[in-house]
Amino acid sequence: MTATATKPKTTNKSAKTQSVGQDVVRLDGPQKVTGTAPYAYEQPVKNPAYLFPIVSTIGLGRIKRIEDAEARKVEGVLDILTHRNAYKLQPSRSAELQVLQSPDVHYRGELLGAVIADTPEAARYAASLVRISYDEAEQDTTFKFDHPALYTPKKVNAGGDPDSILGDVDAALKKAKHKIEASYSHTMQFHSAMEPHSAIAIWEGEKSVTLYDTSQGAAAWRATLAPLLGLEAAQLQVISPFVGGGFGSKGVPHAPTVLTLLAARLVSPRPVKLMLTRQQHFFNVGYRPEIHQRWRLGADADGQLGAIAQNVTETTSKVLEFAEQTVSPTRVMYAAPNRETTTRLVPLDLPPATFMRAPGEFPGMFALEIAMDELAEECGLDPIEFRLQNEPERDPENDKPFSVRLLKDCLTQGAKKFGWERRKAVGGRKEGEWLYGMGVAAATYPHHKPNASCKIVFQKGKYHVQIGAADLGTGAWTILAQAAADALEVGLADIKLEIGQGDLPLAGLAGGSMGTYNWTNAIWHAAQAFRGAHGDDPKAGAEAEGKTVNTEQAGTYSKHTFGAHFAEVKVSTVTGEVRVTRMLGIYDGGRIVNPRTARSQFLGGMTMGISAALHEEAYLDPRFGEVVNHDLAGYHVAAHADIPAIEVHWIEEPDPQFGPLGAKGLGEVGITGVPAAVSNAIYNATGKRLRDLPFTPDKLL
Ligand code: MOS
Repeated sequence: MTATATKPKTTNKSAKTQSVGQDVVRLDGPQKVTGTAPYAYEQPVKNPAYLFPIVSTIGLGRIKRIEDAEARKVEGVLDILTHRNAYKLQPSRSAELQVLQSPDVHYRGELLGAVIADTPEAARYAASLVRISYDEAEQDTTFKFDHPALYTPKKVNAGGDPDSILGDVDAALKKAKHKIEASYSHTMQFHSAMEPHSAIAIWEGEKSVTLYDTSQGAAAWRATLAPLLGLEAAQLQVISPFVGGGFGSKGVPHAPTVLTLLAARLVSPRPVKLMLTRQQHFFNVGYRPEIHQRWRLGADADGQLGAIAQNVTETTSKVLEFAEQTVSPTRVMYAAPNRETTTRLVPLDLPPATFMRAPGEFPGMFALEIAMDELAEECGLDPIEFRLQNEPERDPENDKPFSVRLLKDCLTQGAKKFGWERRKAVGGRKEGEWLYGMGVAAATYPHHKPNASCKIVFQKGKYHVQIGAADLGTGAWTILAQAAADALEVGLADIKLEIGQGDLPLAGLAGGSMGTYNWTNAIWHAAQAFRGAHGDDPKAGAEAEGKTVNTEQAGTYSKHTFGAHFAEVKVSTVTGEVRVTRMLGIYDGGRIVNPRTARSQFLGGMTMGISAALHEEAYLDPRFGEVVNHDLAGYHVAAHADIPAIEVHWIEEPDPQFGPLGAKGLGEVGITGVPAAVSNAIYNATGKRLRDLPFTPDKLL
C-alpha cells in the first residue's frame, strides 16, 4: 500500500460499500442482551408512582356506587382514579379510547379506574379493596349465524369491500364435476407479545406530557393521542425505542395507555407507571375475533376451478367495529370465472378486537388452503399440481397484472427441497403408534400503500437519519441503517439512525408488513435530496427531507408477497396428539435487505402459525362474557418444545413496484396458510379432515 492511499479523506462520503443484502448482526443486539436497551417500563424516571387497574366484574351495565374508603386507607395510596375524577377527553374516532368518561360498562374486564400508589404492591392490594356496585344489564356474547343484529360492514379492515360477486357461483356449482362444501372456524386468538403492554406517563405541566409506551409507531400514536388529550402534537412526546413484539396489539393505542395518561394527570407532575398483568392482556389490548367461514368450490373434470365461494361471519365488539378482511386473500389467489366473497358481523358485548398478525390473510388462507386440498383430493390431483393448474395469469378480480408473483416457483422449488415426492397416500406411513403425513399450503400477503417521511441531518461527521419508524424486535434498527448507508453511498458506521420517537418525521406503522419497503423508500428519497442539495462533502448541519414515492401510477399492479408452506406431522394413534416434525417455508419476498433478520421474520410467522394450528384456543364463557382461560397457562402459546426444525428459503427477485430497493413485506406472510399445511398433513397421515382450529387430540380420536 502506498502512502497516498492512506491519506486522510477530505470528503464526508466514504467509499461505496454495499450494506443491503449483507448478513449484518443486529446493531441493537448488544444493548438488548446486556439489558441496557430501555423498554417502556424500564425508562429511568424520578420517583414514579404505580398504577393498578380496577376492572369491571359484570358484562354490561352502569356503575351505581364505588366504595373506596378501605382502599384509600392503605399505606402509600396516593389517589384513586375513576370516571368521577377523570380528566375530560376530547371526542375520538375510536370509542375504545374514551376511557373513564362515563359510568357505563360495556364488557367484562373493562377498565373502570385505577389505584395510584407509591409501590406496585400497595396499588394492587388497594385495588382489590375497591367495591363497585352496578345496575346490571343482560350482556350478549354468544355467536350465532342467525343473530338478530347481524349486519354487513361498510368496509373491511384495510379498506376492501365486504362483498364481491362475479359471475354466478350457484349456477357454476351445479355444473361442476367436482365440488366441496365445508365450514371452517377458529376462536378468539391473542397476540401474547413477550413484552407486556406497559407505559410511563408524565404530565409535567398543563401542556407538556411525556409518554413512554410500547408502540408500533410512536409518531402515529402521538397523532392520535394528542388531540384526545386536547393538546397540540408538539405538547405530547411519545417515546418507544425498543418494543418486545406487538403483532398488531401495539398498532394503535388501547385503553391502558389512556388510563396511564389520566392517572398521570391526577398526580401531575409525578411520573406514573403501568404494566398490565398477563391476565389483563386478555381484556384490554385487542385480539383476533372469532371467525366462521362457509366455503364452496367447484371444478371441472380436468380440475379447473369454475367457482369459488366464501361466506364469512365474524364477531365484533359493540364498542368498536373491527371487520377482519378474511375475504381479501381469496380475491387474489386462484383463477375461477365465478366468484363470491361475503362478510357479515355479529356485534357482541365484547372488548374491541384489533389487527393480529396477518389480519384477513391468516383466517382466509387457513380455510382456502384446506378447501383447495379437499378439492384436489376430489379431483384426484396432487395438491401442488392442482394449485399450479389454477394459477391466474392476472389478478382474478381486478384484472391487473401482478408485479412479481412467483407462487409457482415457490411451490415447485419448495416441493423439491422438502422431499414432496416421498409423500405417501393417505394413511400410508406408520411408525409405531405414529402416523406420518405431509401437507402443503400457499401463502400470501398484500402490499399496503406506503406513507413515510424522513429527514437526514449531517452532524459531527455522521448522517443522522430521522424517521418515525419502530423496531418491534424485527430488525428495523439494523436494516434501516443498511438501507440508509447504501442510499447515501457511505459505510454503516457513518449512519446514526433515529427511530422510535413521536417527534420524528411521521412514518407509517410497523404494521401491515410495510415497514421495510415504506421506510426505506422515504430514506432513499431523503438521501437523493440530501446529495442533490449538499453533494458528497456536506457542511455540518446540512439537512434534507424525503417522502415515500409511489413510482407506479396508482393501482397499475396487483402487488403481493407470495410463498409456500410445507409441513410434516405425526399423529399418535393412541392419544390423538399432533406434532409438527418438520416445516419448510419458501417465499417470493423481493430484495432481501438482511438475510438474518428476514429469516427471523419468516421463522416467527411459521412458529405463530404452528401455535395457532395446534395450541391456541380461547374459551369464551357466555355466562360471564369472558375468556376463562385468560393466562398463558390456560391459553397455550407454542413453546420451544412445540416447534420443530424449520427451514426457510426465498427466491430473491426485487420487485421495483414496492419501492427503490425492491423489498417486499415479510413480517406476516410467514403465518398465512400454515394451519392449512398442518391440517392437510394431518389428513395425509390419518384421513381425517380438520377444519376448526386448533387441532387438538379430542378432534382426532
Ligand atoms: Mo401487523 S397485525 O399489521 O401489526
